[in-house]
Amino acid sequence: PYVVTENCIRCKHTDCVSVCPVDCFHEGPNFLVIDPAVCIDCGVCEPECPVDAIRPHDRLEADQMQYLTLNEELSQVWPLIMEKKDALPDAERWAGTPGKFAELIR
Ligand code: SF4
Ligand code: F3S
Repeated sequence: PYVVTENCIRCKHTDCVSVCPVDCFHEGPNFLVIDPAVCIDCGVCEPECPVDAIRPHDRLEADQMQYLTLNEELSQVWPLIMEKKDALPDAERWAGTPGKFAELIR
């Protein structure tokens, strides 16, 4: 499956949602995750993310590995999101900021 990683936190642009053919994105307060059981590995979401937060599971960096289980876990609890919405208000400021894992709201 594809995996949403740290750069999405506090940005949440949601461009990814509008292209997914199988609706596998789930939404939390400041982050999105992909349900790995539903993702068909089509790859169309990856280039849509303005902050490059989406990767296939086999191209994750070592420090992104924790996001594999995080996507699996949170997609079971967070509601589906099927339409694009506005990015979070401070998205520009948080884009590419390191250490955003600490900012994740579950
Ligand atoms: Fe959806 Fe395709 Fe992205 Fe999987 S790879 S989340 S199926 S758009
Ligand atoms: Fe997040 Fe990028 Fe989608 S910021 S909501 S993964 S378009």
